[in-house]
Amino acid sequence: MEKKIVFSGVQPSGVLTMGNYIGAIRNWVELQDEYNCFYCVVDQHAITVPQIPKDLRKNTLDVLALLLAAGIDPKKSALFIQSHVAAHSELSWVLNTITYMGQLNRMTQFKEKSRRSEENLNAGLFTYPVLMAADILIYNADLVPVGEDQKQHMELARDLAERFNNRYSDTFTVPDPLIKKAGARIMSLQDPTSKMSKSDKDTNAYILLLDKPDDIRRKIKRAVTDSIGVIAYNDEQAGLKNLLNIYNAFTNEPIDEIVSRYENLGYGKFKEDLAEVIVEGLSPIREKYDYLMKNKDYLEEVYREGAKKAEYQAEKMLRKVYRKVGFVQR
Ligand code: AMP
Ligand code: TRP
Repeated sequence: MEKKIVFSGVQPSGVLTMGNYIGAIRNWVELQDEYNCFYCVVDQHAITVPQIPKDLRKNTLDVLALLLAAGIDPKKSALFIQSHVAAHSELSWVLNTITYMGQLNRMTQFKEKSRRSEENLNAGLFTYPVLMAADILIYNADLVPVGEDQKQHMELARDLAERFNNRYSDTFTVPDPLIKKAGARIMSLQDPTSKMSKSDKDTNAYILLLDKPDDIRRKIKRAVTDSIGVIAYNDEQAGLKNLLNIYNAFTNEPIDEIVSRYENLGYGKFKEDLAEVIVEGLSPIREKYDYLMKNKDYLEEVYREGAKKAEYQAEKMLRKVYRKVGFVQR
């Protein structure tokens, strides 16, 4: 039997956070043996908000190296850069023509991003989810491992696959999101009501995969908790709940066991130990990253090979789509 297909993407909008790692990347790593995986650094999505070109170039390579450091194996998976495979944006145009404006208007990520920067209401930000659907559908992906925040975008991708199939005959696989319950939404360390994001203005809100051990310790020490003073896992103690989720993500120890072990030891001791758990969990990634960044030729080879593998599949699919919509074959 043919292996099922997995696709996922991450934006090169900065160094990845612990949230990206726990919510998405470590799941990508797990899927590599069982599935035919395509993992993509989505630089075309990144330019929907203003970018400094030289930083975008650097961040794209950084993220690529981080994915390798976190365990993506280019022998098993196609690891590539979105702008290297033109078929994504070509399919995106076709999908744009079957997407309803109303659907895009309801996208919470668009609403949030446009609220944050009124002066940047560009059309790309609006049609961002259509390009994301194209990323997925062009490979006929069965499964898409993402964090909770991408659920609505995944609904659109499913919708567009079905609409295209209904209008032009069966073409696309309708993809399923794969959202793991544990760690699907790691929250800001400074405001446990919003998600941990690399675009947060407050650098204490997130831990980056490349943060130094002392930065990690300092950020965890400052993480917002509450004045109740007893370690427990509930929504009232949202800050603590988030810290417990992070502890669980790195150690796999069940939450109730962590709680009962620390119940009477106080927040200070728990935070101290948590910081060490994170430092230990991230240090192999940082070390591997440092090594890879000294081997730029290898990085280049990885993304070139990845693009070749991806392009082969994507081009085949694009031809099929063009034929179905009535474009003349060249
Ligand atoms: P992005 O950085 O927005 O490109 O996100 C890349 C992947 O990480 C997506 O699958 C997101 O759903 C996931 N992700 C981003 N932030 C978090 C978070 N705070 N907690 C869990 N998953 C996240
Ligand atoms: N929109 C996703 C995010 O912000 C990134 C992304 C782009 C993606 N294309 C994708 C994720 C396709 C999964 C599948 O996180």
